[in-house]
Amino acid sequence: MSLIFRVQHQAEIDSTNDALKARAHLGAEEGIVLRADVQTAGKGRRGRGWVSEAGNLYMSILLRPQKSPADAATLGFVAAIALGRLLRAVLSVPVHHKWPNDVLVDGCKISGILLESGGITGGKVDWLVLGIGVNLRHHPAQTLYPTTDLLAAGGPSLTPDQALDLLLAEFRPLYEAWLSGGFANLRADWLAHCHGLGDPIVARLEREEISGRFEDIDGDGTLLLRTDDGILKRIAAGDIFMAPRPAA
Ligand code: BTN
Repeated sequence: MSLIFRVQHQAEIDSTNDALKARAHLGAEEGIVLRADVQTAGKGRRGRGWVSEAGNLYMSILLRPQKSPADAATLGFVAAIALGRLLRAVLSVPVHHKWPNDVLVDGCKISGILLESGGITGGKVDWLVLGIGVNLRHHPAQTLYPTTDLLAAGGPSLTPDQALDLLLAEFRPLYEAWLSGGFANLRADWLAHCHGLGDPIVARLEREEISGRFEDIDGDGTLLLRTDDGILKRIAAGDIFMAPRPAA
């Protein structure tokens, strides 16, 4: 049976991810989509914050897909593909996927995806909370990576509700393909719009930075980086940056 999305709205919240995680722990059914106008403690990846003023989209979905932790972790790539499709439909500038789960518009980050999971029963995660923020009208300065928003990139003036409807419409068929065939069904789609594939990159990890060439991603979304001395490094989590090009 196809999943029913039930959208709920709050004017202000600490974090849509945290609120849905609390409900997941209490046994809430999958399909709840929580959107807030403003987040007072929006969360980003790797312990960072997410600036969440009114005008942009902040939403999370509660899902219970019966996947192993490794398979579940690939859902962030599926969300990035959905967002990429939405943005390509309304923009005339290039839209790329940046590993792991960012979407870049003309080279600038326009969105963030935070996937959290909890509990394991019989080798499957009990729940996933997929949180997505999309810059529709404004974007923060002073970030790790250059940022933009939909309006600044020449796109239409969408309300958060309109953007949410469009995003869910893109996400649904991709989610169904992922449920039945996993990330293997969608990896080529993600790679077709990958930022920096084959290029020199620097991967910033918890305790070190590794330089090399961005060779591929594997079936569980791990980045494969080939160092200058030919060693293949598997990178499961981190931030990547394009390596500065040598002066001509
Ligand atoms: C990133 O660091 O790129 C991920 C940012 C994810 C932000 C979204 S906004 C909706 C949801 N609620 C949160 O607290 N974070 C995610």
